[in-house]
Amino acid sequence: MPESIDLTAFPHDFAWGTATSAYQIEGAVTEDGRAPSIWDTFSHTPGKVAGDDHGDVACDHYHRWPEDIALMRRLGTDAYRMSIAWPRVVPGGDGPVNAKGLDFYDRVVDALLAAGITPSVTVYHWDLPQTLQDRGGWTERDTAEHLAAYASVVAARLGDRVSQWATLNEPLCSAWIGHLEGRMAPGLTDLTAAVRASYHLLLGHGLATQAIRAAAPGAQIGLVTNHSTIEPASCRPEDIAAAARMDGHTNRWWLDPVYGRGFPADMRELYGIELPERSNDLATIAAPLDWHGLNYYFPATIADDPDGPVPYAREIRLPDVTRTGMDWQIDADGLEALLLRLTDDYGVRRLYVTENGSAFPDRVDPDGAVDDPGRTRYLEQHLAACARALRKGAPLAGYYAWSLLDNFEWAYGYDKRFGLVHVDYPTQRRTVKASGHRYADIIRAHRQGTTVA
Ligand code: IFM
Repeated sequence: MPESIDLTAFPHDFAWGTATSAYQIEGAVTEDGRAPSIWDTFSHTPGKVAGDDHGDVACDHYHRWPEDIALMRRLGTDAYRMSIAWPRVVPGGDGPVNAKGLDFYDRVVDALLAAGITPSVTVYHWDLPQTLQDRGGWTERDTAEHLAAYASVVAARLGDRVSQWATLNEPLCSAWIGHLEGRMAPGLTDLTAAVRASYHLLLGHGLATQAIRAAAPGAQIGLVTNHSTIEPASCRPEDIAAAARMDGHTNRWWLDPVYGRGFPADMRELYGIELPERSNDLATIAAPLDWHGLNYYFPATIADDPDGPVPYAREIRLPDVTRTGMDWQIDADGLEALLLRLTDDYGVRRLYVTENGSAFPDRVDPDGAVDDPGRTRYLEQHLAACARALRKGAPLAGYYAWSLLDNFEWAYGYDKRFGLVHVDYPTQRRTVKASGHRYADIIRAHRQGTTVA
């Protein structure tokens, strides 16, 4: 039985979208003046990515974008979240602008608009130009300033047609996974580097917000962060304290400064690293935003782990719960809870689910269909959660399914498939999965005024 979704909860102008990011789909890494990013370096370092996969070709979107926009139309979506590759537009990280790089995004934006699809552009989705990494990357303040300069170039070029802008995607992953856990580019395991990176990412967000506002008056600017609901593994005080630390590490560190509360004092003490603060930085980081983007995938249950890595808390693997092919627990209630937390606790006045989705091992049946019941159910459960959050007052204006296409899933390579559309990498053949058809039916039903899908 399909899970039913209360469509009357969604406003009539709700944005139904899909999302991707540049390095995960574009390929064409040496074409038209693009320079290497930290992900080219990382993925070409043996052993860093499953199967030693890399983004050299990916979904070949750089050449196949007209077909991919046609797929969005087939799904009936009216919004598309994409990112711009910094190393295409400013290959040196700072300095000269590469006209051919900008031209590519210009063509894509025009084609999206012609197809009736509203672009939502993320300026930075993890593909830092390698030249900037060679100068210290996010551990250095200069990188935040270079981000703002690059954002200004992109907004000046596209701002007459793109109104929705996000500065960063998931700074938590760049800082914590990239600089502390080492599982993502640039692959460091250094707390000082990670804390400095987190600070400069948020500063870069604030500076880029100013830059986009100046270059594209009327731009609607947001930040995209990923969060999990955090539950203690038991009612032991140690586990409750560990869950609070993990909440600080995963949620509050990224939201408190952006919403004017500064960096949480308990986490500053826990990290014990001096922040590279200058006067006015906190005001820059807390620049008022037009919207907030929530990326939600899974919840976490946390136990105390005094001998473990920062934040001395470890995730417990619950038995008897359903999981995706990433081994991530499925819990749509977490999405509802986080939407309400952003609304009630942080006072966000316009929200988007900028990513939500699931990986499962799909296969193309002999008749050419891709039946993916796990992903279809995940989609239904999370849209039902959006409806509940809307009913409880969350100002949710849109949902972007992750992802339009199967793509390069970072350290997991191509093995993990998140797409509503299957990609056969050797032939680049695209096939809409059953979940994609279900999403199209839900969107159509909402447009037609059907009450339940
Ligand atoms: O593929 C990623 C995306 O780039 C950022 N958010 C999570 C997705 C799934 O892991």
